[in-house]
Amino acid sequence: MIPRRRIDIGWADVADLLRGIGDSPFDAARLVGEFEARCSVLLGGRPVRATASGRDALDLIFEGLGLRAGDELVVPAYTLGELIVRMQNRGLRPVAADVDSETFTVTPASVARAITPRTRAVIALHVFGAPCDIRGIGALAAGRGLPLIEDCAHAFGARVGGEPAGAFGTAALFSLEVAKPVSAFGGGLLVSANRELHGVAAAQLAQRRYSPWPVTRKTALKCVEELMVRSPAYGIAARLMFRDKGTGGFERLYRGLHDRVRPVDVTFSGFQARRGMRRLAGLAMRTGELNALWAQLAAGLPPGFLPQSRARHGEPAAYNFVARYTGDISQLRRRAQMMGLDLAIHGEVLDDVAAMLGQTDCPGAAKVFAQAVAIPLHRGIDARRLQRIVAILAKAARS
Ligand SMILES: Cc1ncc(COP(=O)(O)O)c(C=O)c1O
Repeated sequence: MIPRRRIDIGWADVADLLRGIGDSPFDAARLVGEFEARCSVLLGGRPVRATASGRDALDLIFEGLGLRAGDELVVPAYTLGELIVRMQNRGLRPVAADVDSETFTVTPASVARAITPRTRAVIALHVFGAPCDIRGIGALAAGRGLPLIEDCAHAFGARVGGEPAGAFGTAALFSLEVAKPVSAFGGGLLVSANRELHGVAAAQLAQRRYSPWPVTRKTALKCVEELMVRSPAYGIAARLMFRDKGTGGFERLYRGLHDRVRPVDVTFSGFQARRGMRRLAGLAMRTGELNALWAQLAAGLPPGFLPQSRARHGEPAAYNFVARYTGDISQLRRRAQMMGLDLAIHGEVLDDVAAMLGQTDCPGAAKVFAQAVAIPLHRGIDARRLQRIVAILAKAARS
C-alpha cells in the first residue's frame, strides 16, 4: 500500500523527545524563544509566537484584532470546515468568497464580492501551499480599511515576489501539525508586525501551563501510526474496508488518529522547538525535492486529471498534491485503494465551506470539492513508486 502520508520521524526526534521530558519550564522557554526567532528570520523579520495549533493562532488573531460576536469575516469557500465551526462558536459570521477552479484559491474579485458593510476582516488561504494573489487581496483589503489574515497553514516555504508567505497580511497563522511543511508534532505560529495584537496574544499565552507530556504522548502515538501505515497489515486492512462501498469506517479511523491529540491549554514545548528547528534547517531542501516530484507526477497524470495550478502567484511550498478528477471519483478512489494506492477525496482533502454556510454563490468551490483527489506525494515516494502511482491511476481511471 502506498500511504497518503508519511510522517518524517527519525532517531534524532526520539532522542529529543526523551530530552524534552527532562526540560524545565525555563529551558523550554529559552528553546521556544530561539525557535520563534529563527522562524521570524525566515518569515520576513516579523515577530513570531509559537502557539498550541494553527487554530489557536487564528483564535488569538481574532482576539488581538478585537473581533466580536456579530462581526462578519470573509473566508475562503474552500478551506477546513472546522475553522468555520470555531468562528461560529465565537459568534462571528463567516461569509464565503469563491475560489478559482484551477488554483483553488480566493481571488481579489471573489473577495470583493463577499465584502459587505459588516465585514471586519478578510482571511486568504495559500491552499495546499500554492500562493493566492495575496498582493491583490492585500491591496483590496487595505483600500477598504480591513485587516487581512493570511492563512499559511499549508504554506511554510512559499514565496511571493521573493517575499515569504506570511509577510503580507496584518497577521498570519501557520500550522506545525504532523504532515505540514514544518512539523513539530503539533503547534502553530502567529506572525504579525502589529504590537498590540502580539500583546493580547502574549497575555493569553502566559496563562497556559507548561507540560511536556501531551506532545510526548502525541508523538508516541504518531510513531505507532507510522509503524502501522508502513506494515503490510495496513494494506490488507485498507483493502478490507474498501471491499464494500462504505468508506465511513476508514475515514473515521483516519480522522480519529489525526484529531485525537490536540492540546490547547499547554505552552509549546522544548521538544517541539528542537524538532521545529531541525525541520526549518532542512526546509529549503525538502521544498525543492518535493516540488520536483510534484512536477513529475503532474506531467505523468493520465487524461481526466487536472492538477492544481500552483505557481500562478508565486513559488509554492511543498504540501499535498491535489488534482481535479473529472470522472467518477468514488469509483476511482475505490479501485485505486484495491490496487494499493491510498487516495483521499471530498472532505478528507478540504471542505466546501460555502455549502456548509448555505451559500449557493460559490460554484468554483463546489466544483473543486466534488472533484478534488489528493494523491500521495511525500518523501517516501521514489521514482519506482511514482511510476506505480501513475500506472494505478491510469488503470483505475480506465476500468
Ligand atoms: C486551511 C487550514 N487552516 C488552518 C488549519 C489549522 O491548523 P491546525 O491543525 O494546526 O490547528 C488547518 C489544518 O490543517 C488548515 O488546513
